Amino acid sequence: MGYQSRNVLITGGLGFIGSNLALRAAALGARVTVVDSSIEGCGANLHNLHPALDRIRLIPLDIAQAAEFAAEIGKADVIFNLAGEISHWHSMQFPERDLEINTFSQLRFLNVCREAAPGVRIIYAGTRQIYGVPQYLPVDEEHPIHPVDFNGVHKYAATMYHLMLTRAGYLDAAVLRLTNVYGPRMALHIPSQGFLSTYLRRIILGQPLEVFGDGAQLRDVVYVDDVVEAFLLAGDCPKLHSHTYNVGGPQPLPISEIATTCARTAGGVPVTFRPFPDELKRIDIGSYYTDWRRIRTELGWQPRIGLEEGLRRSVEYFRRELQHYLKVAPEIEAATHSGPPLSQSALPQ
Ligand SMILES: NC(=O)c1ccc[n+]([C@@H]2O[C@H](COP(=O)([O-])OP(=O)(O)OC[C@H]3O[C@@H](n4cnc5c(N)ncnc54)[C@H](O)[C@@H]3O)[C@@H](O)[C@H]2O)c1
Repeated sequence: MGYQSRNVLITGGLGFIGSNLALRAAALGARVTVVDSSIEGCGANLHNLHPALDRIRLIPLDIAQAAEFAAEIGKADVIFNLAGEISHWHSMQFPERDLEINTFSQLRFLNVCREAAPGVRIIYAGTRQIYGVPQYLPVDEEHPIHPVDFNGVHKYAATMYHLMLTRAGYLDAAVLRLTNVYGPRMALHIPSQGFLSTYLRRIILGQPLEVFGDGAQLRDVVYVDDVVEAFLLAGDCPKLHSHTYNVGGPQPLPISEIATTCARTAGGVPVTFRPFPDELKRIDIGSYYTDWRRIRTELGWQPRIGLEEGLRRSVEYFRRELQHYLKVAPEIEAATHSGPPLSQSALPQ
């Protein structure tokens, strides 16, 4: 892949997916710059970049402050735009915070991009959550958009900014709509990051897993290295035929089976079932799995790593690096259990 000596800018590059992408791009010979303001409640962790900290430049700013690093944007050959908040549940508790992180920051960032780097290739991390409750399966890119939470609405607005600016000739963006991603460098220490982060934390600690409901809902979870490959292919493709691509896992599995596979991988912890908590039921989308034929046809991508292998690699990583992933900040713990204090405002005013 052609990343040798290319200037690659990665927003959200201290987080889970962004750091895996940064390490891979650096390994391919790219000159990598990461922009990340380590927003409280998101997955930023400096340790994520540890193996290549001497080769990756870090700009510790919010992407809303893009005017301050416009020169870096101007030098970028490709931008991977992964800055964002992923928690659906937080977005229902703190919708204005989610709006600022996922939409307003993106608006400011993209406005600087179109001035500083006209026509630049940007690959944006979108989400399958924008589709809402699937009307059919597997879900393709033409599926109606009916988000069930603020996070889905705000991520869709940011998606539209990328696509509108591309139609208007300011940028050359593609949006990857990701299903549930898992793997090394996930923020195990931040609650409400989705069931895979919770399951991984619990199996590493030898704690029982809880499945909400009967666990029959299907998910096509995807290993992070596969997702990184999708970003790199989209960033490197000379001419994009489409600007929206679904990225999904190798096969749909019931959540109960994902839980039992997790439990088995870690040497066996109990799996229990309990009724869906009301506040989560409201934003649950039932079964989902991805039709990723478009990205296979146009970019030659497909998921290659199955659940057992992906979990084995994840458990191996977290067992080795555990001390860097289990510190839960007290204010985040408090916010998860009783409501408040993830700051309402994430943006510099
Ligand atoms: N993890 C998944 O399963 C999943 C699924 C669908 C979509 N996505 C999308 O992929 C992207 C990355 O997700 P992740 O799981 O790596 O999350 P993460 O929380 O681990 O990483 C996100 C990073 O972005 C940074 N950030 C957020 N807003 C910022 C801002 N305005 N300026 C600078 N830095 C900012 C955070 O500090 C954090 O380090 C997100 O945009 C998310 O919506 C993730």
